[in-house]
Amino acid sequence: MRKTPRSIEVKPLTREYALHNAERLASIASEIPHAAWTREMIMAEEVTVDSKKVPLLGKWAHSVALQDQDTPIALAIGYEVLGKDGVERAIHLGALACDRAYKGHGLGEQLLGTFLRGALHRGYIALGPEEVAFSLQTGASLANMPVRRLYEKYGFTVDHEVDKGEGVTNVVMVAAGERVARALE
Ligand SMILES: CC(C)(COP(=O)(O)OP(=O)(O)OC[C@H]1O[C@@H](n2cnc3c(N)ncnc32)[C@H](O)[C@@H]1OP(=O)(O)O)[C@@H](O)C(=O)NCCC(=O)NCCS
Repeated sequence: MRKTPRSIEVKPLTREYALHNAERLASIASEIPHAAWTREMIMAEEVTVDSKKVPLLGKWAHSVALQDQDTPIALAIGYEVLGKDGVERAIHLGALACDRAYKGHGLGEQLLGTFLRGALHRGYIALGPEEVAFSLQTGASLANMPVRRLYEKYGFTVDHEVDKGEGVTNVVMVAAGERVARALE
């Protein structure tokens, strides 16, 4: 049964908040298709890419949760990633998910807007206005068209496809910070 949101609050998803609510957040993130978001991934502060440890910069500053009466109901986890040149950074949205019982009430849109506005603001300070860029990955299948439209509303466009193996293809979507800023106006 769908729940009608009553008293939705935006909460910064800090390390302390994540530790305190890890099981609940992992349960919400388990809604993300083809991505095994576990408690460990929610808490992770670095990932291993090509056997190199890569820090998830700014993770506890950029990530946001929504909660209803003290219970987390949605999350957006983001962090800064190095660009191909190893210097330029982009703010990557790693996870966006809403509790199944709360879907379809506009919370995903509200949360994504809140995440982007905050990350843009901090990005401008950390990276400079010319450098802010956003990236994310989502499924390439038809089932993902609604969520892709949600990202397009905020200025994202498809950049390229990624073969994830086992018959799963993702698309990488990107948006320049200025484009996101215009979409948020
Ligand atoms: C993606 C998600 C967070 C959207 O949250 P939501 O609160 O249901 O979305 P909203 O009510 O704010 O809807 C925003 C728009 O997204 C669309 N949408 C996004 N995801 C959708 C989905 N899975 N099913 C149906 N519509 C969806 C809605 O149609 C709506 O568009 P509209 O305003 O043009 O009608 C939520 O559906 C979810 O948790 N899905 C599972 C996890 C997931 O797929 N995450 C994204 C991985 S890249």
